[in-house]
Amino acid sequence: MSVLGCGYLGVTHAAGMAELGHQVIGVDVDIAKIAALAGGRSPFFEPGLDELISRNIAAGRLSFTTSYEEAAAADVHFLCVGTPQRDGGAADMSYLDAVVETLAPFLVKECLIVGKSTVPVGTAARITSMLRVLAPAGEAVSVAWNPEFLCEGKAVSDTLHPDRLVLGVPDERAEKVLREVYAPIIDAGVPVVVADLPTAEVIKTAANSFTATKISFINAIAEFCEASGADVTVVSEALGYDARIGRQFLNSGLGFGGGCLPKDIRAFQARAYELGVGQALAFLAEVDAVNLRCRERVVEYLRKQCGGAFTGRRIAVLGAAFKGGTDDIRDSPALHVANIVSAQEGEVAVYDPQAMSNARRAFPHLVYENSVLEAVRGADAVAVLTDWPEFVTLNPYTLGDEARSRNIVDARHALDPTQWLRAGWNYIAPGRPALQASLNEPVDSLV
Ligand code: UDX
Repeated sequence: MSVLGCGYLGVTHAAGMAELGHQVIGVDVDIAKIAALAGGRSPFFEPGLDELISRNIAAGRLSFTTSYEEAAAADVHFLCVGTPQRDGGAADMSYLDAVVETLAPFLVKECLIVGKSTVPVGTAARITSMLRVLAPAGEAVSVAWNPEFLCEGKAVSDTLHPDRLVLGVPDERAEKVLREVYAPIIDAGVPVVVADLPTAEVIKTAANSFTATKISFINAIAEFCEASGADVTVVSEALGYDARIGRQFLNSGLGFGGGCLPKDIRAFQARAYELGVGQALAFLAEVDAVNLRCRERVVEYLRKQCGGAFTGRRIAVLGAAFKGGTDDIRDSPALHVANIVSAQEGEVAVYDPQAMSNARRAFPHLVYENSVLEAVRGADAVAVLTDWPEFVTLNPYTLGDEARSRNIVDARHALDPTQWLRAGWNYIAPGRPALQASLNEPVDSLV
């Protein structure tokens, strides 16, 4: 099989399929990326992935190329390129279309094209029509859609042990091929949902929209908690015990970012408007708005801690990745906050355990330090913006000796507030007003 597009999704999928015993060739137009992969190195940080790549290259099951002609010999082709956001919120399909157009002339025998990228509903049908015209093998080329649900940071286990497999297929023949591809996973008891093509496409965008909505729900509750004196972390805990709700994705704080959720909810809305049912998904605009407000509120807390303005102040930003466990900075809430503070004349000192080089490349105007202590040295306020495990165990006394003022915004609820308050820190966490005694307005309008 071939895997077209060697980003987070493609590389993990290629290595995962080789691990299942298949002969896999990964394809990308980026020569440097292919060279790194051929040498057994993932172009990004993902736990366990380097080992998986090296092991399967050594076993002779995994190789990489920039040649579509070479890849065309495969029986199954997975489409794994990005579908980023374009102006207006809709998905940019140019990479996907380019891959199909480049591959098609080489398709001279029966094969199955399997889309994994997140796409607007109707894409599989459109690609089927393109291939009918462009591929010499014509009707012998089928298109299926098999969305990927992997989360960065646990992409390897999500690929090899998924919660479910969604097989969007046009006919039984395509289903049979996909069942063969995933046989070891299916034999292990993973549920399989067989669907038609539009249903498979919708499942993916619906899943991401649901998780985004869940996060924004709890962040909206956090805003309400702040106005009413309640504690959102206790609300999350109690709601989580309800089996109908579940505790996952109820962590309030700085909201969602990354290469998927923000763009997917916008593309889903754009497609709904195209189909004349914009009203049905209009609530996703509110999900987006609540999410972006989380970032503004954290800037506001920091500004208060800095005495009302950032000019001449140093702010230590702990975390640059969009979440812990990855070096991905795409739509990172942490860097968004850092950039707003910097634009308002604050000196921002960033530290992240993995994402420093990506952050430095994208935002060279920020200051980067090699450790938490160096970032905090001389800081007027500290902001914990990514949920890295190493931040959870930070010592409030050690940091207190380095900072100019003991101000901290714990935007991811990563710290134990009792310890930080005891060490004399002015501690703020979104949705926990009782802990911010010095800044909290009394709740006097409830009677
Ligand atoms: C997401 C989807 O979960 C995955 O199924 C899809 O295939 C790709 O997009 P990912 O982008 O890796 O995966 O991140 P995810 O773990 O979903 O987190 C997204 C964002 O939400 C992160 O910024 C994270 O910090 C934030 N988040 C997550 C919260 O703010 N609160 C939570 O409770 C959970």
